[in-house]
Amino acid sequence: MKLSIIGTGYVGLTSGVCFAEMGNKVLCIDNNQEKLNKLTKGQITIYEPGLEVLYIRNLKQKRLSFDSNLKAAVEFADVIFYCLPTPQDEDGSADLQHVIEVTEQIGDLLQNRDNYKLIVNKSTVPVGTVEMIKNILFGKGVRNFDVSSNPEFLREGFAVEDFMKPDRIVIGAESEKALKVLRELYEPFVRQGNPIIEMDVKSAEVTKYAANSYLATRITFMNELANFCEKVGANVDLIRKGMGSDSRIGKRFLFPGIGYGGSCFPKDVNALIKTSIDKGSKLTILEVVDKINKEQRIRFVEKILNYFNGNISGKYFAVWGLSFKPNTDDMREAPSITIIKKLLEYGAFVTAFDPVAMENAKFYLDELISYSENQYDALKDADALIILTEWNEFRNPDFEKIKSLLKEPLIFDGRNVYDLDDMKEKDFTYFSIGRQPIIRGKN
Ligand SMILES: NC(=O)c1ccc[n+]([C@@H]2O[C@H](COP(=O)([O-])OP(=O)(O)OC[C@H]3O[C@@H](n4cnc5c(N)ncnc54)[C@H](O)[C@@H]3O)[C@@H](O)[C@H]2O)c1
Repeated sequence: MKLSIIGTGYVGLTSGVCFAEMGNKVLCIDNNQEKLNKLTKGQITIYEPGLEVLYIRNLKQKRLSFDSNLKAAVEFADVIFYCLPTPQDEDGSADLQHVIEVTEQIGDLLQNRDNYKLIVNKSTVPVGTVEMIKNILFGKGVRNFDVSSNPEFLREGFAVEDFMKPDRIVIGAESEKALKVLRELYEPFVRQGNPIIEMDVKSAEVTKYAANSYLATRITFMNELANFCEKVGANVDLIRKGMGSDSRIGKRFLFPGIGYGGSCFPKDVNALIKTSIDKGSKLTILEVVDKINKEQRIRFVEKILNYFNGNISGKYFAVWGLSFKPNTDDMREAPSITIIKKLLEYGAFVTAFDPVAMENAKFYLDELISYSENQYDALKDADALIILTEWNEFRNPDFEKIKSLLKEPLIFDGRNVYDLDDMKEKDFTYFSIGRQPIIRGKN
């Protein structure tokens, strides 16, 4: 099949590469010329495990190409995917300007053409957006087309794995013709029997928000429970295991921390809140989720402040981990940004290390902090180590080296990376989330 992908970011590039890997011919479009220049030359633009090998292979096989021209996209393929950004607007809603702009341009290009086009929306958009796209196209006089909703559920850090072997494919379509095309396209990805779930367009649009909001709620429940555990002397990690072993609950997405971040959960929760208010059926639970999530970051800073009796002015902290989660270079809405900015506001200094996100971090933190070439260089003469992302390489570090480099053996761990008994045995003062602090010489 020939496919055009509009928007070549995390979702667009992964989708384009994986579709090409299945033998399709894919043209990826973007309006960022710098990005296209790199991608055309074989330079990958995002960090995503396993993606580069597939990208290079399909580029060489000429199944994958890149262009800035929407006209080329419309001429190249009869199936056009939207993988466009839908960032949060000032009022919390999803900003649809990119979707509208591209649809208007495509509408102009499709006027007076007879051959059938299928537009497939993969961007996360409020319910009713497919209808809006259709109306724009009708308004431009376009006739022979369908617009379907095909929300994307890939996780950054596992994007290739998730795309190649999805738990499910959701397709919201209004015509048998569109369904047939999408079934055929996705069949190779669900050979093990995972379902292609077909539904109406509106339900497909809501399914994406429902999934992300539910996961955000689950994390938030654990974060609030963790705060409670700290007060009553319980250990949230043990409770997590006790709860998660119940097959009705399940083990995943129960890890407490410093709040969810990333390019999806925060904006999707807010967009669903806004839609629910606009439609007169308020999702109150999500307002609370968003509030607790924001507070969770600040609570972590307060933990650090309390240890230093409310004054961290002039203190120097080593931060390990900047990306919003491991295995990605994505810094969008990363809790590290809020936490580091707060520490700086209180007069502290920060040197940070992240295995892949430091370049992107500079966009958000600029010259406000220093960056270190490796995880240990950051520690030299620091007052404490602060862990903000649970990269694997932080799990088994050289603790003796950490001790020798820090002013005192003090760790604030926002991701519960280390075992409490181990920290006690290694003689660290150690603060984590939802577990009792380990204080050297005391417990
Ligand atoms: N990132 C994820 O993990 C993820 C997962 C599932 C769904 N989504 C959703 O998918 C959508 C895309 O997310 P993303 O993370 O890939 O975004 P992104 O910002 O990484 O990529 C979007 C790309 O679109 C390009 N673009 C913007 N306007 C354009 C235009 N007018 N014409 C052509 N290209 C244009 C940008 O330059 C960028 O390269 C969003 O709606 C997001 O919510 C994201």
